Amino acid sequence: MKLLVTGGCGFIGSHFIRTVLAERPDWDIVNLDALTYAGNLTTTLDFQIHPRYKFCYGSITNKELVDSLVQTVDAVINFAAETHVDRSITDVEPFIMTNILGTQRLIDACVKYNKRFHQVSTDEVFGSLEANDPKFTEATPYSPRNPYSATKAAADHLVRAAIDTHGLRATISNCTNNYGPYLYPEKFLSIAITNLLESKPLTIHGDGTQVRDWIHARDHGAGVLAILERGTVGETYMMGGNSELSVLETAKTLIRVMGLSETMLVHINDRPGQDKRYAIDHSKITRELGWTQRQTFEEGLRDMVEWYRKNEAWWRPIKDSSIYRSWHSQQFGK
Ligand SMILES: NC(=O)c1ccc[n+]([C@@H]2O[C@H](COP(=O)([O-])OP(=O)(O)OC[C@H]3O[C@@H](n4cnc5c(N)ncnc54)[C@H](O)[C@@H]3O)[C@@H](O)[C@H]2O)c1
Repeated sequence: MKLLVTGGCGFIGSHFIRTVLAERPDWDIVNLDALTYAGNLTTTLDFQIHPRYKFCYGSITNKELVDSLVQTVDAVINFAAETHVDRSITDVEPFIMTNILGTQRLIDACVKYNKRFHQVSTDEVFGSLEANDPKFTEATPYSPRNPYSATKAAADHLVRAAIDTHGLRATISNCTNNYGPYLYPEKFLSIAITNLLESKPLTIHGDGTQVRDWIHARDHGAGVLAILERGTVGETYMMGGNSELSVLETAKTLIRVMGLSETMLVHINDRPGQDKRYAIDHSKITRELGWTQRQTFEEGLRDMVEWYRKNEAWWRPIKDSSIYRSWHSQQFGK
């Protein structure tokens, strides 16, 4: 089997590549990545020279490049995306280009060469739950509430349209919030850990009552692999972590794991359009494909903290870069 993985220099795509190289000894991978601010060649250092791995620098919006790569592989897994909600609120254009147009380019090539396609999507396409609402399932109607999730929803609709109109052999997964090593330090847990390691405060948007369900990125990658191998074409699969926690509870767990004091917690203004709660019913993928999470949140968080402690050489250059500093001062005012 030969895979085209897009966005493999990012957080979850790189975990997926590690899993495939380790667990599928006769599979080859081509990683197409545009190396945006979130893509980092140092994220792939441990497998860069693997004999079954090739890196291709370029964008999924590049029609000719996508066409030439797709014809050489058996299946395409699309992790490439603009992923940060706050950035989508200030400038949505890159999100429209990559998440919508880029996905369509991959779909077009997969239709042309009759290749298997998997779209990696998010639970944010379903919008927000109230405290007592039932969890999201595959049947929940789409109701995205921020520009990022609107573009991911559009991409999912394009995949379904291609399944129905062109017979595209595709699946979609909608997963909840991921955590683990290599999480770019603009997302809540990685900013929190790296700030605390630098003896800086842990900032929380609003009162911290918004609820998130945390899943380890390795578990997410294992689920995508299960769908690719055993999933039914045309179907959608939900993945969650069974770890619903408010942001405040998450922050307090992190403070405890790191042996620090809650005086390190600071509240800042909430982001516009903040979703109150995400929660996933993953019973379909568990029942049909035998997938379940292996990592409990607290254990996974401990490992993640240890990883950031030992791998300052990975996150320090990111936090010291001018592109990161200018984003950080826009968000947090310093
Ligand atoms: N992080 C989460 O909690 C989460 C949860 C559910 C779903 N997802 C989805 O999983 C996927 C991966 O998310 P992530 O957190 O690893 O993202 P990330 O921001 O860490 O990485 C994205 C990668 O895509 C690359 N990329 C961006 N635009 C590109 C383009 N035009 N062409 C080629 N490469 C491009 C970047 O360089 C980067 O390497 C995304 O589709 C995201 O929507 C993420």
